[in-house]
Amino acid sequence: MSSYDVIIIGSGPGGYVSAIRCAQLGLKTACVEGRETLGGTCLNVGCIPSKALLHATHMLHEAEHNFADMGLKGKSPSVDWNQMLAYKQNTIDTNTKGIEFLFKKNKIDWIKGWATIPEAGKVKVGDDIHEAKNIIIATGSAPASLPGVEVDEKIVVTSTGALTLNKVPKKLVVIGAGVIGLELGSVYARLGSEVTVVEYLDAITPGMDGEVQKNFMRLLKKQGIDFVMGAAVQSTEASKTKAKVTYKLRKDDSEHTLDADAVLVATGRKPYYDGLGIDALGVEMTQRGQIAVNDHWQTSVKGIYAIGDVIEGPMLAHKAEDEGMAVAEVVAGKHGHVNYGVIPGVIYTHPEVANVGATEEQLKEAGRAYKVGKFSFMGNARAKAVFAGEGFVKILADKDTDRILGAHIIGPAAGDLIHEVCVAMEFGASAEDLAMTCHAHPTYSEAVREAALACGDGAIHM
Ligand code: NAI
Repeated sequence: MSSYDVIIIGSGPGGYVSAIRCAQLGLKTACVEGRETLGGTCLNVGCIPSKALLHATHMLHEAEHNFADMGLKGKSPSVDWNQMLAYKQNTIDTNTKGIEFLFKKNKIDWIKGWATIPEAGKVKVGDDIHEAKNIIIATGSAPASLPGVEVDEKIVVTSTGALTLNKVPKKLVVIGAGVIGLELGSVYARLGSEVTVVEYLDAITPGMDGEVQKNFMRLLKKQGIDFVMGAAVQSTEASKTKAKVTYKLRKDDSEHTLDADAVLVATGRKPYYDGLGIDALGVEMTQRGQIAVNDHWQTSVKGIYAIGDVIEGPMLAHKAEDEGMAVAEVVAGKHGHVNYGVIPGVIYTHPEVANVGATEEQLKEAGRAYKVGKFSFMGNARAKAVFAGEGFVKILADKDTDRILGAHIIGPAAGDLIHEVCVAMEFGASAEDLAMTCHAHPTYSEAVREAALACGDGAIHM
């Protein structure tokens, strides 16, 4: 029997980051992972492979739509799907191997297999029982199932199967206009699939600022993606090569069908803790089936912690990473902290969409006095030079104190630009603080400064 200060279960962004921080803080650390490779959903079948496909297909889109205008003449590239999948796999491999290297460097033991917690202080993997003063559950999430829809990961797929379809479907139906549906829907639309997104609600990307939702949908439609809104999917029927999706429109209960060569089910994810044995341990759960934790990520069972997608909060890799570092500090007797008010969200479509803090709708509902500073990328010289003038930066600031309350960006490199606002918010900055900071010209970031200026005396280039 081996014994550790801490055993982390799961090696996704929450688990592996936590393991590294635990080791850095001098704790004898092991991480249990049952997959063949480290990195969890994010690196193996999520964030990283989807970004490879988004990048490759964006290049194709640029070649097809903008090259000729820049004087780059010639035939657009043809798609070698198998090579694109190989490029994606190579991206996964270099990243997962990178974590293996970091584990070795930090002297973290990778216990290979699936873990059970027979009792606090013990982790069972296969026939071996390991002792651990502290256990951190970081087992992530899995696609939620939808009644009437049977996933075979070939024709009716989740995000996992959508990354390995054996060919580019002529017609793709996407169920759910959330982050997964729109990112992967974009990939296939750029590859030439006819993409129809069927969404239950009346707006895409639930929870996002309303103005961004509308503009984002307009831009996606321009890229050829069709939307059926206010539609509840009832069932799918699949043969070996085709599928049929049946949905009901909420406004009149009428039933309709769509034919497809592939169906992507992207209707959310649920916490994953199968086989851990937490029921038998009496670990308290929330009403929504997440593991309940206190401010220090401690579950109701002493010595057992939980972080990431298995607990409350947005299911985002970077939220899990932050919790992973913070819980390591707590276990090491320090003061771990996560500022849940400043967690950015990014959708890696083109243009990208990013947000942090409050939406305008949330501020209205809270009855908060606020002001809006907005700037269009059409006024940003750099964006216009690269065919990226669509979209805007919107900053929300307190009407009296000018303190930044939220930011919403749709446009080039939005997922990077948002962090300037995140840092400002961490420091409790005002919109004026951002506006008075010199921004290099010509950069996209000038649009952030202009939006901050628009919270005060006005933007310059608008
Ligand atoms: P989501 O919760 O973002 O969106 C699911 C959508 O499906 C909702 O709009 C919902 O109204 C709709 N829906 C549910 N049932 C339906 C039905 N019967 N018929 C039609 N529409 C229906 O879930 P998604 O996109 O699957 O993502 C899961 C999680 O993964 C999210 O928490 C997301 O934040 C995370 N994720 C984040 C990424 C990023 O940060 N870039 C990338 C991929 C996933």
